[in-house]
Order: sequence, then C-alpha cells, then structure tokens
Amino acid sequence: MATAVAHPNIALVKYWGKQPGPGNVPATPSLSITVAALTTTTQVEAAAKNSIRIDGVPRADPKVQALVDAMRGAFELPPMAVTTDNDFPTGAGLASSASGFAALVTAIDAKFDLHLSPSARSAWARRGSASAARSIFGGFATLAERDGEWTAAELLDRDAWPLEVAVAVTDESAKPVPSSAGMERSRTTSPFYEAWCRSTEIDYATACRAVTTRDFDAIARIAEHSCLKLHALMLSSRPALVYWNPATVAVMDAVRELQVAGTPVFFTIDAGPQVKAVCAPGHGERVANVLGNVPGVVRTVTSGLGAGASVV
Ligand code: DP6
Repeated sequence: MATAVAHPNIALVKYWGKQPGPGNVPATPSLSITVAALTTTTQVEAAAKNSIRIDGVPRADPKVQALVDAMRGAFELPPMAVTTDNDFPTGAGLASSASGFAALVTAIDAKFDLHLSPSARSAWARRGSASAARSIFGGFATLAERDGEWTAAELLDRDAWPLEVAVAVTDESAKPVPSSAGMERSRTTSPFYEAWCRSTEIDYATACRAVTTRDFDAIARIAEHSCLKLHALMLSSRPALVYWNPATVAVMDAVRELQVAGTPVFFTIDAGPQVKAVCAPGHGERVANVLGNVPGVVRTVTSGLGAGASVV
C-alpha cells in the first residue's frame, strides 16, 4: 500500500473555463497558494477489483474513475482500491478536489513505481481536476502551458514569503453546482466569458510579478479583482451561479474594515460561500479572531502555506 498526502490550494488568479476538447485543459493560466492546515490523505493498493472510498463511504466517483482509467491506459496498472480522507468538508468550496487528485496521482506513482517527475504528476492531476495540478507543489504555484503541456510549477518557495490564511467557513454543505458544470455554463452562456479569458492572461502576469517581488499591496489588488471578476462572470451565467450567502458578504465587509484600519489582508472566494482572508506574515490569528465574530461564520481555520504533495 502507498499513502500520499496533499493540501488544497487557494487561487489568487482564478481558473474558470476549459479549452474545448479532451484532457481538461484550462482556458487561462492561474496562480495559487497551497494551504498547510487542510489535508487529504489517500491510500492506493492493488486489489481484485476497482473501488473508491471517500471519507469512509464507498463512492462511484466518475472523475476519479476516469483519471484512474486514463492512467491505466498509459501505464498498464492493475485494478486498485483507493481510500481517501479529508480532514475538512468535501466539495464545499475548500478545494477538496485539488488536494484529492494531487494525493491520488502521487499515491499511484509511488505504489506502482512509475517514477513520474513532479511536472508529470501535475499534468496527470490536472486531468482529474485542473486546480489539482497546483497542489503537487507547495508555496506559490502557477498552472500554465509549458512546452506544449499544461502543468504547474512552483513560483516561490513558501519560506520565501510565509503568508498566512484565515478561512471563514460560513456553510459546510456541498456546493449546489460543481465547478466543472459551473464553468461550462459560464463558457456557453455568459456574455463576459471572452473578456474574462483575455483579461485573466494579464492578471496572471501582474500577479506573478507581485509574488516574485513580494509586493503585498499588488497581490492584494489583483487577487481581489480576479475573485470579484470571477463572481461577476458566475452571476452573468444563465442560470446565474450564486455561490455567496449573506455571511460571505459580511466577511468581505469585515476584511474591508480591517484594511481601512491598516491590516495587511485581502479576501478571495471560490465556488462556495467560504471567504479566504490572505494575510501578511504574523496577521493570520488576529484576522481569524475578527472574522470568527462575524454573524454567520461557523468556524475559522488559520493556516500557513503548505508543502507540495508527498508520500508518507
Ligand atoms: C473557483 O479545478 O475544481 O476553485 O478542473 O473542472 O475539476 P475542474 O475544476 P476545479 O475548479 C476550480 C475553480 C476555482 C478556481 C481555482 O481554483 O483556480
């Protein structure tokens, strides 16, 4: 049996929309931070037949099965039993698919001695869920086209700029429209989709510069813009994709108040109602305390930046 762990990541420049055709190829590049405090643990062992258990429950997860089948086609793998557990809510906008596929590919690689490079593991993880390509790496990771292949890479080591994250959880139930379906809806129905793709290329370049120069104000500005533009795209889809609840907006207001008072913090929100407040080093605990008192916040999680997926 091989066991791998991986952490979710939070996109600062968001991915939303795929290129037409197979392979789950994003339409735009993205940039994320890997989050240490949330962990997926995945075990893979050879078995008489394929099986998948997620958080203790046997599941016929078509995305997991499709990735395992694709890898089996490339590497002649035997049937396998996959067991995966998250220490946080699954499918609720906390990027469980990112850590899940990163841990799965890393465990398969280890169990069957495939000797894949991190970049090759990242490209396989991307086929399962594109954001998972980034969770192969720690710290700041970018997902972009490199030598004809969409794969992630580390842009900056986590110790080089140890940002902190306070996640304000406002609802632990699974999201109403999964990301894959939501982004396809945006691609096919939003009048803003082309502008989203074009402008995200520019946001990505701006954000990469902000990270490599460790410019907190610059990354704050571009990350909040990418987040709000994503949600504008979602709201302009038909039917509209509304992932926020009243507490989501209240937490955004609280982050704005912290900013006005001089705290180095910015918010970002994915396909769910949780708000992730990204803070300069040393500010995470205090920000989490403030956000924990906002009505509607169920709990907060504070984290530093995490390492990439690894075998344990
Ligand atoms: C809003 O990576 O879950 O979190 O490739 O279809 O599995 P699939 O989508 P997924 O989408 C993530 C969307 C996002 C933004 C991001 O992480 O970049």
